Amino acid sequence: MSHRQLEPGKLVVASHNKGKIREINELLQPYGFDVVSAGDLDLPEPEETGLTFEANASLKAQAAARASGFPSLADDSGFCVAALGGDPGIYSARWAGPDKDFAMAMRTIEEKLQSAGATADDMRRGSFVAVLCLAWPDGHEEYFRGEVEGQVVWPPRGTQGFGYDPMFQPDGHNRTFAEMTSEEKHGGTPGLPALSHRARAFQLFKAGCLEGK
Ligand code: IMP
Repeated sequence: MSHRQLEPGKLVVASHNKGKIREINELLQPYGFDVVSAGDLDLPEPEETGLTFEANASLKAQAAARASGFPSLADDSGFCVAALGGDPGIYSARWAGPDKDFAMAMRTIEEKLQSAGATADDMRRGSFVAVLCLAWPDGHEEYFRGEVEGQVVWPPRGTQGFGYDPMFQPDGHNRTFAEMTSEEKHGGTPGLPALSHRARAFQLFKAGCLEGK
């Protein structure tokens, strides 16, 4: 599939989240973009009213591209538990409440799994999903989706990472994301395949819009 290429110049990272902006900046470093964030430009944060990761990523990227006049990149991500019909999914941040209490959000997931009788390993499947949307001021957009499948474990294990990392063990590994260093969680360094959903989405974005494949 051919994708519109992102030409060197100004690129807006359509996020107000410092962690995400830093991570995206690092990934874009070798490509010589003049990266600014939606926060730097004082752009308002649109409400995430979409019903899919794609819709929410698009909403954020389009709003920033329209308001700034520059190509804009947004990401939307979440944790999807199969036995809960894909919840919390696009509501992953919201399940942690205004205090961003992820210990509580993880407990909620475990309680719902117990209520559903999901005790066997094959009923405790989950995945992280990340969708990147790159939007241009003329309305054109490109999407890239990264996913990683694994087991939903209880009790939570590990202290690294963030969000739902302590209850997710990716397939082929015996440690949770929260028991891995950031390098291990994302992978993608020479000799290591991309592992995290975000790293996988970025790999597709780079191959599609930066390296002309
Ligand atoms: P967003 O900022 O609207 O994309 O919300 C993403 C939410 O999904 C975060 O607040 C986390 O709860 C969850 N999430 C996404 N990626 C990860 C991850 O890599 N580890 C743990 N939780 C994640």
